[in-house]
Amino acid sequence: MYSKDGNMKDIKTPRICDVVWHNGEFIKWDDARVHVMSHVLHYGSSIFEGIRCYSTKQGPAVFRLREHMQRFLNSARIYRMDHPWTMDDLCNAAVELIRQSGMDQCYIRPILFRSLDEGHPAFGVNPFPNPLACYIGAWDWGKYLGDEAIEQGVDVCVSTWNRLTPNSMPAMAKSGANYMNSQLIKMEALLNGFAEGIALDDRGYVSEGSGENIFAVTGDIVLTPPLSSSILPGITRDSVIQICQELGIVVKERTIQRAALYVADELFFSGTAAEITPIRSVDRITVGRGGRGPITEKIQKVFFEITKGERPAPGKWLTYVNETKAAPAENNGHAPAKVRDDSDTTPILSFQTATQD
Ligand SMILES: Cc1ncc(COP(=O)(O)O)c(C=O)c1O
Repeated sequence: MYSKDGNMKDIKTPRICDVVWHNGEFIKWDDARVHVMSHVLHYGSSIFEGIRCYSTKQGPAVFRLREHMQRFLNSARIYRMDHPWTMDDLCNAAVELIRQSGMDQCYIRPILFRSLDEGHPAFGVNPFPNPLACYIGAWDWGKYLGDEAIEQGVDVCVSTWNRLTPNSMPAMAKSGANYMNSQLIKMEALLNGFAEGIALDDRGYVSEGSGENIFAVTGDIVLTPPLSSSILPGITRDSVIQICQELGIVVKERTIQRAALYVADELFFSGTAAEITPIRSVDRITVGRGGRGPITEKIQKVFFEITKGERPAPGKWLTYVNETKAAPAENNGHAPAKVRDDSDTTPILSFQTATQD
């Protein structure tokens, strides 16, 4: 029933950080456990983030840390998760975790969820009686859609599963439960021999991949679905929009029909895990010339130069881990360090958008 490939292949994980940040302290990886009766396991009550830290000449640098943490805080607010963590607490914790990991590059995973009060257990859907737990883990993660994907592109399909409707599950919150929908899209794609699936929204317009936003290039114009197409407001998507604007490439948010995917000159995914990955075919129809197109390559090149700290970003996008103050000794080295933060200080409530049509 299941394809061996779909089950076995996964992203390379060369290293995992052996400490995890938990509710303000650093604990061992082996101690980062939950009870099986935790609310989150039964009712999907978690919100999370995925952040990349890149290797640069000045040491590890976190890409758009504050924007990711702002989305984390927004997701928590949407799900009425009343927690004590501030933007600075979370940013400091992530930076200190990377420092403790000794890794030069990694993927960072903050997660906030409803757990179980073992003294006063609550088993119903009502989430409020359950305590919240916040963790941050980190690992070194390879190329999300395969090692060759960044240059050669990936073969994808349009999923038979639709993305979430705005009044059922909010796509703008990065909640664990949304990823049940992503898993349906991903499993179907893998079992049919594709690297990824593209979901349409409930009206039939292109929404996004199971874990990526999507861009189409037609002539010299770059198009991407608007937030109203039930997408996650991707931080890489926002970075692509800003890079296009800086390069003088016209970029527009526009509803995209499924058939427009088949006749686009270029298509690519954007995402923290997938970075910028070209799409070379959709439903076995070749996109453009069937590889990475010139505009995708141009945007990709600038994106990677920025993440490596080799080119100035349109905003202050990198937080350099080595330029933060050390954790105070009286806290046993476990208190969050003060972060010297290069990111914009203005809270980002909605991400910069392209021209709307
Ligand atoms: C469903 C979905 N859409 C889009 C994205 C891309 O968002 P970002 O660029 O912030 O990683 C992701 C990845 O987090 C995702 O899971």
